[in-house]
Order: sequence, then structure tokens, then C-alpha cells
Amino acid sequence: MENQLNPDNLPNNLPNLPTRRRFITITSGFIGSLILGDRALGATKPVAKKPVVKKPVVKKPVVKKPVAKATSTPAPSASPSASPSASASPTPPPNTAPDAPVIGKASATGATGATIAFTAPAKNGGAPITSFIATSNPGGIKVTLPQSDSGTFTFAGLTGGTAYTFTVVAVNSVGTSSASAASNEIKTLDVVPASAIAIKKSGVALTLADIEVGKTISATNSATNTNLFVARLGEDSFKGYPTSCTHQGGPLAIQGKTLDCPWHGSKFDAQSGAVTTGPAGSPLTPIKVAALNGALYII
Ligand code: FES
Repeated sequence: MENQLNPDNLPNNLPNLPTRRRFITITSGFIGSLILGDRALGATKPVAKKPVVKKPVVKKPVVKKPVAKATSTPAPSASPSASPSASASPTPPPNTAPDAPVIGKASATGATGATIAFTAPAKNGGAPITSFIATSNPGGIKVTLPQSDSGTFTFAGLTGGTAYTFTVVAVNSVGTSSASAASNEIKTLDVVPASAIAIKKSGVALTLADIEVGKTISATNSATNTNLFVARLGEDSFKGYPTSCTHQGGPLAIQGKTLDCPWHGSKFDAQSGAVTTGPAGSPLTPIKVAALNGALYII
């Protein structure tokens, strides 16, 4: 300190003041420096760093926004000039004839009658069905049912003993359907003539089941109660023969495939009645036999 106040120790670069005045000036400056410290000399005070306090991060709860459902909004008309009729319902197709009916079971009900069941088609073509028509084959006999639902035809006037099939069509205001499939085949009952004579065996009507094709059996004429031979030549082919020899009337008997006469040894073919062994010179005279409704008759 003492050294600092010595005017001789003053720096040489002070302004050129009288020595006493420079001393005062220096001294005042020194004292000022003591009072004001470094601030008087323009020193900067170090800035105290504030501790960094990290604020806790508060997580905001995630709130899911409700997803808005897409709603269909009718698109505006592509063309403002489109006419209102553009969105109208399409024109329905024109009506047509019905679909074909479904054929059912056909049954014979006698010598001249039959019934045929059918089912109405699922599609009537857009117009109500007004009737169904069944047709016989053969004969082309037609029967009409004026109705719209399934049903059964009743035929009359068929020919006895004849095989038939039937088809059915449906009719509406537009037209007629295609024909159904053909029915099962039926056979009307045979008409038994009043003059027909039943053939019996052991007192019972002789039937097809009693005689095989190619066989000949002995039977009885129910009208005269006399015997005869009945030969089955085919499924629906029959012949009858008398039981007397054409030579002199001896009694014939079935011996395998021949009808033999014990008197003089003549033999006849059991199916055709032809002489196979003499002395008989004439074949047996055939008797007309037919199967009617499964039974055998002399006709
Ligand atoms: S009567 Fe039959 S062979 Fe003479």
C-alpha cells in the first residue's frame, strides 16, 4: 500500500497533472476501487447458473376419439340433366307360356278308362295357368282340366287291351307349355266278349301263371265241361286242341312234346298240332284261345 501511494511509483502514462493533484486523483481512484470493487473498474460479475430443474413430464391420457361410421350418402346425380325416369324400376320381362308340368302316375281303371296324375309347373310364365291338357298315345285323345293347380285327369273312351302313355301341357293367357315327359305305360283291361268261354284247370280259371311259354297243358272247357289241350306258343300267343285223335277218335295224352294216341300210335306236335307219327293223316284242329286280363278264354 505504501508503495502504491508513493508519487514516485505512479505510472508514467498519467495525464500531465501537478504531482499533488495526480496523487489525489490516484488515491481517489484507488479508494473508489476499494469501495466499488471490480464493478467500479467495469469487471463483470460471474452469472450463477441456476440448477436445471426438470419438470416431470405429465403424460396426457390418450383419449380415443370415436370413429365416425361411414354413412352412405346417395351420390348426387352424375348429370344434373338426367331425367327422373332414369332411376325407375326396370321394366319386367314380358309374360311367357308356362313351364311344362311334371307328369305323375298313370293307372288303368278298366277296359276303357285311366287316370293320370300331374304336378303344376313351378313357373307359370308370369300369367296364371288357366288349364291343363292331357293327351293319350296312341289315339290322341285329349282331356282338359280348367284349373291352375296340380291334379288328376280321368280318361274314358280308351280301347280295351291297349297300351297307352300320356303327356300333359299347361296353358295360360300367353300360350301353351311344352309337353311333359311321357307317363308310365299302362294297358287298359281287355274287353271280354259275352261269347267267351272261360278255361279252367281243376275247377279254377286258367291264368297266365299256370302255363309257361312252349308248354302244353290239359284243361277244361267250363261251358261243356269237356277237356282240351292248351298250348302257349309265346307270351301272348295261345292255341287249344281237342283231345281226340284225328285217325279214329282215340284219346290223346301229353307225352313230353307230343300228344300220343294209344290206339294206333299216332303222334301230334303238342305246340302246333301237326301229325308227327301216323297213321293219322290230319293235324289237330286248333281252338281259338286268348288271354284276357290275365285269364285264358275260348273265344
Ligand atoms: S285212333 Fe289214334 S291212331 Fe288210330
